[in-house]
Amino acid sequence: MLNPFDIVIFGGGGDLALRKLLPAMYRAYQEGNLPEGSRVLPTVRAEEQKEQYLATAEQALQSHLSEGEFNAKDWQAFAQFLVPVVVNVTEADDNWDALKDILDADGEEKSRVFYLSLPPAVYGTCCELLSQKGLITDNSRVVVEKPIGYCGKSAEEINGKIAQFFDENQIFRIDHYLGKETVQNLMALRFANALFENLWDAKSIDNIQISISETVGLESRAGFYDKAGALRDMVQNHLLQLLCLVAMESPSKLNANSIRAEKLKVLEALRPLVGEDVDDNVVRGQYVPGDLNGKLVPGYLEELGEGSSTTETFVAIRAHIDNWRWAGVPFYLRTGKRMKKRCAEIVVEYKPVSHNVYGPSVGPIQPNRLEIRLQPEESIQLTLMSKRLDNLEMQLEPVTLNIELSQQYSKGFHSDAYKRLMLDAAANNPALFIHRDEVREAWQWIDPIIARWQEKGTPSLYRAGSWGPEAADELLEENNHAWFNVG
Ligand code: BG6
Repeated sequence: MLNPFDIVIFGGGGDLALRKLLPAMYRAYQEGNLPEGSRVLPTVRAEEQKEQYLATAEQALQSHLSEGEFNAKDWQAFAQFLVPVVVNVTEADDNWDALKDILDADGEEKSRVFYLSLPPAVYGTCCELLSQKGLITDNSRVVVEKPIGYCGKSAEEINGKIAQFFDENQIFRIDHYLGKETVQNLMALRFANALFENLWDAKSIDNIQISISETVGLESRAGFYDKAGALRDMVQNHLLQLLCLVAMESPSKLNANSIRAEKLKVLEALRPLVGEDVDDNVVRGQYVPGDLNGKLVPGYLEELGEGSSTTETFVAIRAHIDNWRWAGVPFYLRTGKRMKKRCAEIVVEYKPVSHNVYGPSVGPIQPNRLEIRLQPEESIQLTLMSKRLDNLEMQLEPVTLNIELSQQYSKGFHSDAYKRLMLDAAANNPALFIHRDEVREAWQWIDPIIARWQEKGTPSLYRAGSWGPEAADELLEENNHAWFNVG
């Protein structure tokens, strides 16, 4: 069991804190993973907000927890852990001293986590004030949200600024996809089973698709999203991290240094996409009004309330990893908003059998396929060819081995990426957080794509409720491949 810790959530009244971080801590409490003596300290900007915080938090939990998770008894017990504080993160006033007194009251040995649920532009100032006001102890860590920066240069500036006040081993850069239970299961699947790892290379695998489709649109984040777009918001971090876990070599141990070193090698081996490569291998899209599961939803520009914007809400990329293991295997990455279904999935398509001993009469022999679904439900499916057992003829058809992980393990445990990562930060376990070098390398691959888009072209349009622009299908057709779209 974890030792008691304090977690200060800067931006405690913000969307992320109310939607994800508080529910995560509440779940930790419900599951017995929030040690007695721990404190969750959300910061707000004014005394009035502080007085109302418990009511705000209760309401947030009621709206953002899943059905049946909220109950008055647990809430009352959890509320005892909540200590709202007033802090204005850009002003060096007395509130910082008050926060220091609260933290110091429990001594310097206790684990302190400073979670910056703030715009990256103020990370530097906040860290500087933490340092200036003497809040950083040897047992302190800082958690920062993605995307770090807007491009490689700005990311370096932000990382450089944080590094003035915290050592690299105290900086926990979060990518909540790494906290998803199935994402870790991906490592278990690869490194705890000889079956797959021995067939995990260009000799056996034809192509790999990593796809995160969302049905939501802009939500209430127009200001952020229109400046960022899908490439910065999803590809630079979530998709590239998934790619790393799929493609990396086995780390010698499952510790942070070994895992991060292997992930970094994948990022370094990504074939750069520069200039015309971008036109040939990357599709950007933007949604127009369409029918999403029976409901007409507005297009991106309507949601944004602007006449024009070239921000992409969809990206599809054909990537290659130039190393021995993956030579010639296309990795297709795709993400988009307002798509037909919400789904995050990794699909590994194996090579066809080298010779069809059955001849053409039995029908085509489909290649084996491994599908690792991260959401909405968590499952692993393996499609194999099998003989039909209901007649004397030799007839083959694909059958699927299906492991429904969510159903198997659902009792009393809510798989929640933020919960896992916040507790990991409290326990000083950085294995599922991102190293500065990874951020740098990921931007190095992304920057030229952005540069090309600034020079040339506009997004291809797709209807809300579809699977993205036609150009994304054509990208795969060039290699005789097709996207696997769920149900
Ligand atoms: C966030 C992005 O990092 O991930 C959002 O900023 C996106 O735009 C979200 O909607 C998706 O996360 P999940 O866990 O719901 O797939």
